[in-house]
Amino acid sequence: MTPLEKKISELDPNRIPVHVAMIMDGNGRWAKSHGFVRSDGHAEGVSTVHRVTKLSSDLGIKYLTLYAFSTENWNRPKEEVDTLMYLIGWAIERELPELLANNVKIVLLGDIERIPDEPRQRLFYARNATAHCTGLQLNMCLSYSSRWEITEAVRQIAKAAAEGKVNPDHISEEDVSNHLTTAGIPDPDLLIRTGGEHRISNYLLWQIAYSELYFTSALWPDFSDEDYIEALLDFQNRERRFGLTGDQVKNNK
Ligand code: IPE
Ligand code: IPE
Ligand code: MG
Repeated sequence: MTPLEKKISELDPNRIPVHVAMIMDGNGRWAKSHGFVRSDGHAEGVSTVHRVTKLSSDLGIKYLTLYAFSTENWNRPKEEVDTLMYLIGWAIERELPELLANNVKIVLLGDIERIPDEPRQRLFYARNATAHCTGLQLNMCLSYSSRWEITEAVRQIAKAAAEGKVNPDHISEEDVSNHLTTAGIPDPDLLIRTGGEHRISNYLLWQIAYSELYFTSALWPDFSDEDYIEALLDFQNRERRFGLTGDQVKNNK
């Protein structure tokens, strides 16, 4: 047994999270610490995406949601944004055969129309090619931010109300959820942020209301399979109470 296999064997197979979300942070600092340019960190980060996707799929996780590019990231230097967009298109094309072989379905969340034409076409191609897949659903958040998404949802609901299709008094939490880009996807059980920052950076604000949060100082390119299993083991040791008392939760089991 390798050290990784041993760690995996410590996981309770009955308590694998259904949905894991990740904030993939720390590429720039990783590059700097190795004397490289920031974009080299993003390129290196692609291999972590590859590993994390494979491991999630192998463990039977149903949804993996990755924050790849935020609405605010558009304000970075043009050169970095251009390289990132190129990398995203290149990576999705390169990964497609293995994604298909592993039955992984690609879903795009965010203001995808803002992505330049070439990478966007590659993303759409991968999404359509994997639409039939029934294994892991890989949600790629691109040009995504939670406030953008919630604002869009409010607009849609307000329009429906103005047209008389919706009674404002009857708008439910479920209606709001159904107007988000994540409609139909269960809320994340676990949110992992790499890179050492303890913040959410405009990610899935509505959806993480009761998610377990896990922060690691590992920079995204260094985030290893062992680190991922460590986060899952930590998750399995927590008691999710959803506002109830500990006794209530225990008696319900
Ligand atoms: C995360 O790494 C990737 C993106 C935001 C696209 P960063 O580029 O934010 O890396 P740091 O935080 O500067 O190290
Ligand atoms: C969050 O990382 C966005 C992504 C990982 C895509 P940032 O590096 O943009 O977040 P801040 O600026 O440190 O909050
Ligand atoms: Mg960052």
